[in-house]
Amino acid sequence: MRTIAIFASGSGSNAENIIRHFQSNPSIRIDSVWSNKKDAFVLERAKNLGVEANFFTREAFSGSDQLRDELQSRGVEVIILAGFLWLIPSAFIDSFELINIHPALLPKYGGKGMYGSHVHEAVIQNKEKESGITIHLVNNEYDKGEHLLQKTCPVYPDDSPETLAERIHELEYAYFPAAIEAYLLK
Ligand code: GAR
Repeated sequence: MRTIAIFASGSGSNAENIIRHFQSNPSIRIDSVWSNKKDAFVLERAKNLGVEANFFTREAFSGSDQLRDELQSRGVEVIILAGFLWLIPSAFIDSFELINIHPALLPKYGGKGMYGSHVHEAVIQNKEKESGITIHLVNNEYDKGEHLLQKTCPVYPDDSPETLAERIHELEYAYFPAAIEAYLLK
């Protein structure tokens, strides 16, 4: 049995998709969902699915060992970043396996400040013909960990950040849970 916590800062549609996916897998347990934003919709989604959902402060996350210790005491071994925007402190890298999803084809369009619609705006601005998703392990630098999976989709000349985001979300829903499962049960 592998025990997972999910970190997310926003809407949480990926978190919801992951929770639903693993509801029927006895080898993987979603222990809890955590957000650095008190009013993030992901917390509602998790509660509606019967998963404990908690807010944490910067102090608990990186100013002390409070959150790290809490997760360890719950038996969490793996943290999934599903739209989580803070850089992960070394104490977490040393204590857990962490997997992130990025809404572009890294190493392009990664790094600090590159998240959500900012990524799609940059991709469209540069007239890219292709974008996609990167699922990767997490290290001490934004978006620099080892890649587990990339999937591509077209970018059309009349795309807006919103239409591209929709296409990217479809890829995320199709591949993220399965990629987590493949990595954890390998
Ligand atoms: C997802 O598209 C994810 O790839 C992206 O945030 C979105 C969250 O959507 N993550 C990043 O940009 C990380 N740099 P969601 O809250 O609906 O799952």
